[in-house]
Amino acid sequence: MPAYAVIGGQWGDEGKGKIIDYLAGKVKAVVRYAGGNNAGHTVINDKGTFQLHLIPSGICWPGVYGIVGNGVVANPDVMLDELNQLESRGIDVSNVYVSERAHVIMPYHIVQDNLEEKARGSSAIGTTGQGVGPAYVDKVSRGGVRFSDLLELDSLSQKLEYTIQFKNKIFTRVYDGDEVSFEDVLKRCRDWAEWIRPHIRSTDQLIHDLLDEGNDVLLEGAQGTMLDIDHGSYPYVTSSSPTIGGACTGLGISPQSIAGVLGVFKAYSTRVGGGPMPTELHGQAAENLREIAHEYGTTTGRARRVGWFDAVAGRYSRIVNGMTGIVLTRLDILDGFDTVKICNGYRANGHEIDRFPSNTDLLAQCEPVYEDFPGWDTPTSGVTTWEALPENAQNYVSRIQDLVGCPIQIISTGPNREETILRSPVIGQ
Ligand code: GDP
Ligand code: IMO
Ligand code: MG
Repeated sequence: MPAYAVIGGQWGDEGKGKIIDYLAGKVKAVVRYAGGNNAGHTVINDKGTFQLHLIPSGICWPGVYGIVGNGVVANPDVMLDELNQLESRGIDVSNVYVSERAHVIMPYHIVQDNLEEKARGSSAIGTTGQGVGPAYVDKVSRGGVRFSDLLELDSLSQKLEYTIQFKNKIFTRVYDGDEVSFEDVLKRCRDWAEWIRPHIRSTDQLIHDLLDEGNDVLLEGAQGTMLDIDHGSYPYVTSSSPTIGGACTGLGISPQSIAGVLGVFKAYSTRVGGGPMPTELHGQAAENLREIAHEYGTTTGRARRVGWFDAVAGRYSRIVNGMTGIVLTRLDILDGFDTVKICNGYRANGHEIDRFPSNTDLLAQCEPVYEDFPGWDTPTSGVTTWEALPENAQNYVSRIQDLVGCPIQIISTGPNREETILRSPVIGQ
């Protein structure tokens, strides 16, 4: 039995957590493959409301493994905090594992992230400040700390002594910042080693076994396609591959084991941090949508930038990931608008552009070309069947399906697990 990927189709925060929680009752494991605790995934069900940054969003289902794969970078403090919070609310976390190959976000990565952002000035990326970028840089430059290293403290101590000396030179001489203390960092590692040992595992082998035994597995994307280090609007991106390729390298599974790729899209667009967003709304129009939608970041609390649905970016996202189906979330947010819009092309320097540009400067110059649709007065909020949606909402959804070029299999009409329309089954088909 195969794996199914759930991937952000836009700039993150599409509602992946809700959809994973909705689907996870049918699978044996939910696995994170990329990103780190820059993610913030909201899950709302009969057990309560959960903001998950690292622990996979299937955790509320008993007996479902929650696996943090090798492609993830993780802050053990955030992981412990999340495990404790879940346990205190009666959720079983004994099946949560982190790959021995996953990289640790060290305290100096967080310092570095914030010093680098400050130094970027007006070109700041608007990172989440969680140390994710610097942790990936150290991974790629082969100076990182892996979870397995936390179990070998003597050799880790030697490595850290060198690393921290080097980091401190940069922090003080380049950024005019403060030193981090080697002793403090080593103590943190000792504290982590005490509780984390039972959670560290060869997760690639575990996932291979689960698949070989005939179980279905959900691959939980973090961030979104337009934030991909290669395919997003570089340099205004995250430092990992949220797209489907990242799922294979971030878990050690083959593309053949993935039977379906679900792209999650909001019925409109949002983005946190810097970088171009062609359909962005400004002024009162933006305020209205942001307040109705309550668009504030789960991880940082920042106001999210908002705009209309971008089908040019959507098509690109579908192609990059080989999406087999779409999940459209937050349709209810558009209830009551007189007119709703879909961007179906860009215009820049007097030219029409219908493919998503790889040149970020060109993308920043793109003006959206919109199709207008009449809104709907009858609320979609909480609706659970396609037939019960107002006709204008059906037309809007169908047009997104046609323009992105992929069947919309699930429509979400509210944050709760049940507020969902399943148009065609996605698991076990
Ligand atoms: P993620 O990072 O992709 O998991 O998304 P976030 O959790 O950061 O942001 C999505 C927000 O939308 C959360 O507050 C969810 O509870 C909420 N949400 C998800 N689906 C729906 C929906 O269909 N309607 C409404 N109104 N809210 C939704
Ligand atoms: P989920 O999984 C939205 C954005 C940051 C910033 C850029 C780089 O909840 O969808 P980083 O800290 O990764 O170096 O920041 O990426 N970003 C996200 N935006 N949702 C996320 O995750 C994000 N994770 C990172 O705002 O623009
Ligand atoms: Mg989020």
